[in-house]
Amino acid sequence: MRVMLVGGGAREHAIAEALCRGEVELYAVMGNRNPGIARLAREVRIAKETDVEKVVQAAERWRVELAVVGPEAPLCAGVADRLGEAGVPCMGPKQRLAMVEGSKSFCRWLMSSYRIPGNVSYASFTDAAEACEFIDSIEGEVAVKPAGLTGGKGVRVMGEHLKSREEAKAYAKEVIERGIGGGEVVIEEKVEGEEFTVQAFVAGGEVLPMPAVQDHKRAFEGDRGHNTGGMGSYSLASGLLPFIDASDYEFAVEIIRRTVDALRRETGEDYRGVLYGQFMKGREIKLIEFNCRFGDPEAMNVLTLLEGDFAGLCAGIAEGRLGEVDFRKLASVCKYIVPRGYGVSPAPPAEIQVDERGIAEEGAVVYYAAVDERDGRLYTTTSRSVAVVGVAESLEEAEAIAERATAHVRGEHLYHRRDIGTKELIERKLERLRKLRGE
Ligand code: GLY
Repeated sequence: MRVMLVGGGAREHAIAEALCRGEVELYAVMGNRNPGIARLAREVRIAKETDVEKVVQAAERWRVELAVVGPEAPLCAGVADRLGEAGVPCMGPKQRLAMVEGSKSFCRWLMSSYRIPGNVSYASFTDAAEACEFIDSIEGEVAVKPAGLTGGKGVRVMGEHLKSREEAKAYAKEVIERGIGGGEVVIEEKVEGEEFTVQAFVAGGEVLPMPAVQDHKRAFEGDRGHNTGGMGSYSLASGLLPFIDASDYEFAVEIIRRTVDALRRETGEDYRGVLYGQFMKGREIKLIEFNCRFGDPEAMNVLTLLEGDFAGLCAGIAEGRLGEVDFRKLASVCKYIVPRGYGVSPAPPAEIQVDERGIAEEGAVVYYAAVDERDGRLYTTTSRSVAVVGVAESLEEAEAIAERATAHVRGEHLYHRRDIGTKELIERKLERLRKLRGE
């Protein structure tokens, strides 16, 4: 099958690897030359992934039978709709459905209108004075979120990134006046607890949930520092998490199911792709946000564990049929190696060496992210560079494999979080959660 992959990060490298386990001829469109994807692909086109017409032209030139879209931005720009018009089935939802990620106010409205559990109190504004008045009118702390896409960098929370109500108001005003994420702001009650991710394949109104994963957004060990796109993630052999039991997981899946149904009723369209739910377990479980694609880094956990015909599953989904795949009952730990200053003021591009053989000898898997390949050498960019994944029967062993693998990625100004997937960090998280829940 001729398949076009859109996107050039580690998530897309993991998708490419999973596709190429089947009988796939891969073609790729990406903004940067990801060496991991490039070597799996017959041909690569370097183009802006949101340039929908260029993506469609590439699909037509390559006469692909299926497109798989990694990032949210092309989906929110309508790439699945245009590919469909050109006769190319797409694994990834159409624009109106992708709005579940593309507009946080639509997402909250949908949950509230269809009485989907897990919603939070919220209000959305395009008028700065009204937004400020609302922030003043509520007692508790709030999260201030640009409604539209901001590449994961727009959300600010009181007590974390915003020190006072005044700062919350100033940021809400800035979002509206500077047009951040489209210039609409969503003010939500702040929810506290432990975050977790449940992703599901979706087609024909059916959902096929994947193992739960916990991402680590904070830049530094001990969950300290600024928020990033995610520094690494882990999953357990059980498919649950140390603080998530089967009924929590089922509750999260039910929220996803109800949302898929609401989207279908609201738009008259069938969601075909991956729906990613980011949840918070505190005193209860709340939905933090939906994404219309695989998570990054969570894709690296689940796709490394996936068994079965992934390409066939994607082809079925793009036609509205949900097939079946399995996940190996093993633990996984993904650690991202990133340039110093990633997320705030990244170090300038520098050469990076990845000893793939050394990583394989540790029993780990490597996925390339935002690196640039020039004249046979690899350079860092401003974003995450390389992800390594360890898979084993126990979390402890998976963590040790991933940690040893990081030593085979060398370069100036690189760092990673050694604590992701460790017993010590998980114990601290459990303790924090017990306190919050008064247990
Ligand atoms: N792990 C966060 C995201 O994919 O948005």
